[in-house]
Amino acid sequence: MTASLFDEIRREVERELTAIFDRRSDVPEKLLESMRYSVMAGGKRLRPVLVVCSAEAVGGDRKSALPTAAAFELIHTYTLVHDDLPAMDNDDLRRGMPTNHKKFGDATAILAGDGLLTLAFEVITEPNRHVPVGGDTRAEVAMVVARAVGAQGTVGGQQLDMEYEGKESDLTILERIHALKTGVMITSAVKSGAMLGGAGGRELSALGVYGDKIGLAFQVFDDILDVTSDAKTMGKNVGGDVRKKKTTYPALMGLEQSKVFGEKLIAEAEEALSAVKGNTGPLRELARYVAKRNT
Ligand code: IPE
Ligand code: IPE
Ligand code: MG
Ligand code: MG
Ligand code: MG
Repeated sequence: MTASLFDEIRREVERELTAIFDRRSDVPEKLLESMRYSVMAGGKRLRPVLVVCSAEAVGGDRKSALPTAAAFELIHTYTLVHDDLPAMDNDDLRRGMPTNHKKFGDATAILAGDGLLTLAFEVITEPNRHVPVGGDTRAEVAMVVARAVGAQGTVGGQQLDMEYEGKESDLTILERIHALKTGVMITSAVKSGAMLGGAGGRELSALGVYGDKIGLAFQVFDDILDVTSDAKTMGKNVGGDVRKKKTTYPALMGLEQSKVFGEKLIAEAEEALSAVKGNTGPLRELARYVAKRNT
């Protein structure tokens, strides 16, 4: 994601995130520092960029989508903080910095994750500070996000990811794990943006397919990069999937076939966009970025 449009959106999202933390002087100091540390450490900001580009693709106003875009980064970061804990993937490096529990201790890292997740729903449902967004729309978005990232979505996917460590699996199981632990959050980012942008039913379902495809592809390429990249480029340790005997695409179908599968998903995602009438250029570019990224 090098294009200036994406840089511009990222900057706006980061301003939004800074403003959110600046309004939280009532949070105990160490906890706030820990929450801010992992969110502001950087990252590609893919999910917020998707929220904004999806809203704009259906003719919506960027400002209507910004708080929810920021909320997605809060939720995503909570999943990373918990994913890195010793009880889960036990990683020391994230976004080029020591993981949250390495810096603040396990207990504060758990609580920082809890705080980030809850804060996200506060941000999604509170009145939009930029432009009016109806209460019904805010509630609907909150419901879509809750269903995606809860126990039947991201959290459930993380549970299965752990249960299948060292166990035999197949492509059906693997696709379910990846769609749940990573895909559904990405789909809900796309859908939330579309809802805030005022999408109609047909656009919403086409964008849902687009989200499902790039969401699964995103984790396929994450698995590939865990084999082919290095810690300096990624800002996180690599090779852990093999060490932990994770069920991954390269493990089940090999590197080359994984790339072919990921690229097929991206082509299907682009096809789904043909049912959307607005400016889908940025969403197309984001889909291609998912397959080409090196971090
Ligand atoms: C990492 O997500 C976790 C996965 C779902 C694969 P990202 O690759 O989007 O991480 P950041 O936000 O750029 O750090
Ligand atoms: C992470 O998957 C998925 C979630 C955090 C929900 P991974 O465990 O593969 O992510 P990385 O590789 O540590 O970023
Ligand atoms: Mg994990
Ligand atoms: Mg991990
Ligand atoms: Mg990974």
